Amino acid sequence: MELTAFNIEEFDLKLDTEIIGRNFIYIDEVESTNSLLLNSNEYKDHGTVLFAEQQTKGRGRLNRDWRSARELNLTFSILLKDNLNNLNLINLGAAVAIAQSINNFYQLDVTLKWPNDVLINDKKTAGILLESSSKSNKIEKVVVGIGVNVNQTAFNGEYRIKPTSIKRECKETVSRERLLSELLNNFEEMINDLESNKEKVLEEWKSRSKHLGEKIKIEEGSQNKFGVFYDIDEEGYLLLKNNDNIERITFGDVSLTPNQPK
Ligand code: BTN
Repeated sequence: MELTAFNIEEFDLKLDTEIIGRNFIYIDEVESTNSLLLNSNEYKDHGTVLFAEQQTKGRGRLNRDWRSARELNLTFSILLKDNLNNLNLINLGAAVAIAQSINNFYQLDVTLKWPNDVLINDKKTAGILLESSSKSNKIEKVVVGIGVNVNQTAFNGEYRIKPTSIKRECKETVSRERLLSELLNNFEEMINDLESNKEKVLEEWKSRSKHLGEKIKIEEGSQNKFGVFYDIDEEGYLLLKNNDNIERITFGDVSLTPNQPK
């Protein structure tokens, strides 16, 4: 597979946002775009996007690694300083924006797994790591880190969910530049919707949900919980129904359990 560096001009031509990505920083190699945006005072503007061709210590949710081949995928982080009202909804909304962008180019079966995995044909193609820093008990900045497997076709090693990429599923090379601009366009629209019409974002998420209405298992650290994925509440938490009891789940890994009672 021939590697081609990201073409910023091509990306910029299709970027249709007011704020998100207007300050675009391209880095060849970094430990983690999330860590850099979170820990550096160099990047201050709301909507700044930090993009890296390669991460040497890419991080995933729950202290996992995020491995991504050089120049084939999208690994970037978005800095948010305004509209920080509901971080869970930003998380879900980011997953919606990724799914929409893939579907705007390819008719693939893109579904979402709570809280923020993006699957194609039941395999993982993208993940989101949302992190924040606070000052005097007030959230000062939020970093939305996004990794999308775009043109990588070989995945070696152990993965919790079977990985895939858009190219593996649609059998053609994907323009990373067009995909990223589309993704940021959708992301900005989603952030605006969260201010004016958060129901729209929740409905979009639910309509793409892989497990809503199904019997599921939630792994919260070493503890397992079982029930039916009943709904998502207005703050983006999962509602797990077990007999007449509804429990609000704030984190964990969801999987199907066909043998559990409803
Ligand atoms: C997950 O699925 O667990 C989340 C993966 C998030 C990966 C992205 S890649 C860009 C940003 N920088 C990181 O170190 N992680 C996120």
